[in-house]
Amino acid sequence: MYSEKVMDHFENPRNVGEIADADGVGLVGNPTCGDIMKIYLKIDNDVITDIKFKTFGCGAAIATSSMVTEMAKGKTLDEALRLSNQSVAEALDGLPPQKMHCSNLAADALHAAIDNYREKQK
Ligand code: FES
Ligand code: FES
Repeated sequence: MYSEKVMDHFENPRNVGEIADADGVGLVGNPTCGDIMKIYLKIDNDVITDIKFKTFGCGAAIATSSMVTEMAKGKTLDEALRLSNQSVAEALDGLPPQKMHCSNLAADALHAAIDNYREKQK
């Protein structure tokens, strides 16, 4: 049911944790089930230099967040904003349809963290 890449990222998630002095933090949740995702960013010159995540979500949420952190690291903020739940799921060689909504948490938290950073710059 899950691709090898999903299992790999689930069993060895990359970039788990928090960044104490983060430049941007994004927190999103699904009110229906109570699942929560938090993403921390370090940003230098509009480029994501470090990124970490924490989640109360399921295995698919862990795998998609792990993948989204790998995809976002080193990208400019505009490039990172173009990462969608669809592109993350594709990078994982797909997710079962009933698990696609979990990938929204990862992409939404990334976008929220970028918005948070830009808010603070104003
Ligand atoms: Fe909560 Fe999937 S059931 S995000
Ligand atoms: Fe809740 Fe996947 S994050 S079911």
